[in-house]
Amino acid sequence: MLLSLVTILFLPVHVAVFAIPATSLSTLYQDFSVKHSWGNSIPSSWIYHSSPDPTTLLTLHFRLKPSNFDQLLGNLSQTSDHFHERYGKHLSKTQADELTRPTEQTVMEVQEWFKWHGIADGIVFSNNSQGITLTIPVSVAETLLNTTYGIYVHVSDTQNQILRTTEYSLPRHLHAHISVVSPTTYFGSTREMKKTNFLEPIRIEYDATSNSNECTSAITPACLKDLYRTGDYSPSLTTSAKIGIVGFLEEFASISDFKSFTQNYLPNATNATFDVVKVNGGLDDQSDPGVEANLDVQYAAMAWPIPLTYYSTGGSPPFNPDSNSPDDTNEPYLDWLNYVLGLDELPKTISISYGDDEQTVPADYAVEVCNLFALLGSRGTSVMVSSGDAGVGGGDCQTNDGKSEVLFQPIFPASCPYVTAVGSTTGISPETASAFSGGGFSRLFSQPSYQSAAVSTYLSNLGSTYSGLYSASGRAYPDVSAQGQKYQVIVNGGVVSVGGTSCSSPTFASIVAYLNDFKLATEGSTLGFLNPLLYANPSALNDITSGSNPGCGSKGFPATSGWDPVTGLGTPDFVRLKSIRNM
Ligand SMILES: *[C@@H]1O[C@H](CO)[C@@H](O)[C@H](O)[C@H]1NC(C)=O
Ligand SMILES: *[C@@H]1O[C@H](CO)[C@@H](O)[C@H](O)[C@H]1NC(C)=O
Ligand SMILES: *[C@@H]1O[C@H](CO)[C@@H](O)[C@H](O)[C@H]1NC(C)=O
Ligand SMILES: *[C@@H]1O[C@H](CO)[C@@H](O)[C@H](O)[C@H]1NC(C)=O
Ligand SMILES: *[C@@H]1O[C@H](CO)[C@@H](O)[C@H](O)[C@H]1NC(C)=O
Repeated sequence: MLLSLVTILFLPVHVAVFAIPATSLSTLYQDFSVKHSWGNSIPSSWIYHSSPDPTTLLTLHFRLKPSNFDQLLGNLSQTSDHFHERYGKHLSKTQADELTRPTEQTVMEVQEWFKWHGIADGIVFSNNSQGITLTIPVSVAETLLNTTYGIYVHVSDTQNQILRTTEYSLPRHLHAHISVVSPTTYFGSTREMKKTNFLEPIRIEYDATSNSNECTSAITPACLKDLYRTGDYSPSLTTSAKIGIVGFLEEFASISDFKSFTQNYLPNATNATFDVVKVNGGLDDQSDPGVEANLDVQYAAMAWPIPLTYYSTGGSPPFNPDSNSPDDTNEPYLDWLNYVLGLDELPKTISISYGDDEQTVPADYAVEVCNLFALLGSRGTSVMVSSGDAGVGGGDCQTNDGKSEVLFQPIFPASCPYVTAVGSTTGISPETASAFSGGGFSRLFSQPSYQSAAVSTYLSNLGSTYSGLYSASGRAYPDVSAQGQKYQVIVNGGVVSVGGTSCSSPTFASIVAYLNDFKLATEGSTLGFLNPLLYANPSALNDITSGSNPGCGSKGFPATSGWDPVTGLGTPDFVRLKSIRNM
């Protein structure tokens, strides 16, 4: 939690203090304006359970607005533009902290507000912080945010209790200084992007003599290395080009399954292993491996000998209303981003195989998370995210704004313009789009300029088909794709066959890890945020021109030549990517 400030325990004095302040301050602090609201509805799949004891301690994070985010984005667009003189000159942690640190005025305004509520002693503001963490009774949080917290449970697991509210407010003048308060209205499930395990495990024995497995009956590292042409690349700067897999939801990656996988499928990865870093109370139960976690680390191992780290991020709901211990924030993207952005040395390549329907993520939370992905990019890290497994939308596709309109449903964080969203393909000669490949247009984030030409070409060919069902001016995704079906994964010692964009993201990331290694070795820097480079060099990818991604009762978008919202620009060709001029 290096970006966070000092956590203090609230001293219960606020009742006494409340009467003292001047009328003007009282007016200022009671002039509330809603920060985020779900209206009168509870996000689907969650049920109101009960009212918390008002003395229950809650750990609340206040993310402060950065002083100069526009400059950070300005830097990002220069350092990711391969014809700009500052290409590859990523910001150091100190430089990035400088641009994102809140102004003195922001710090003071928020400090005064806490003071007025009797939360004063012990708060220390430091320079590199974007956030303040307070541990306070629920009753005080409710006064600060003019809200009422409730205990909610998820329909799939009524033991999982979380402390949330359906609406919160801030004093009007503080909206300019605070970007998001959590936990408040984010009820995210961060479901894993994995479709199904096929019923019939198809086991491919690794054949060292031929090394010619084709990606036809099943997917293995050997066939992917052939298909995407990483074959004989030998990384040179293995220690600096680290690759990281982000895990949530108590998904644990098994070290013994990993060993058996590399022995069977990656025999050249002698002694391959990975580190487990536990973030925010994350666990590492080696007796309970998860399909998602095992899939992610096993296919990221295609980048071996580049060091691999698995981040086991805590925050699966542990809230216990009886314990009177602080509620876990359970908002895993922010928790992980806080952790990683506090490191001086970042992993250079990251893969995330999780997401939620964009409409279920509060806008203030989503924007903050997306900005932190931009910050990762500005520091030279390339971030891959699965594009989702429900085509243009899963379920009934109804909006949750009370109107229940059927619209295509984009997935977050794939819909964030500062990540590289990865869709799925299947088959070879030709590779075609997987029908589940998530794709479409954000309704929250507008279209970044790096993709506007590619997207407008697609949309002019599409014409009026589906008009009104998607936001044509939104950030379009996926950006790229990779194989996503029939992956051979070892779980609990046996082989299962897995499909989903979860397969595609670590696969694409393993190739990016090699590219980052190559660029480090030749230019001394990494690629960082990839999208401007990729959209400027579509011919470095294999264009996928057939298939579509049905959903929401529609046939979905068709894959076409050029960028499309099913397979993006296409699948990687390591040899062509590596030879992009000026990469
Ligand atoms: C606080 O919120 C309630 C609704 O929950 C509203 O009726 C009330 O006016 C709000 N208070 C202020 C000071 O805005
Ligand atoms: C990039 O960041 C530096 C500070 O590190 C700042 O002075 C400069 O203006 C930024 N560049 C752009 C284009 O915003
Ligand atoms: C923050 O940084 C500024 C300039 O570097 C310095 O003057 C100030 O004392 C610092 N504040 C704290 C709390 O460290
Ligand atoms: C394993 O390494 C050897 C020697 O570098 C190489 O010839 C062979 O192609 C590699 N096999 C695979 C599957 O990468
Ligand atoms: C693999 O591990 C063994 C035993 O620890 C060691 O002798 C060997 O040198 C290692 N091989 C490589 C390539 O690091």
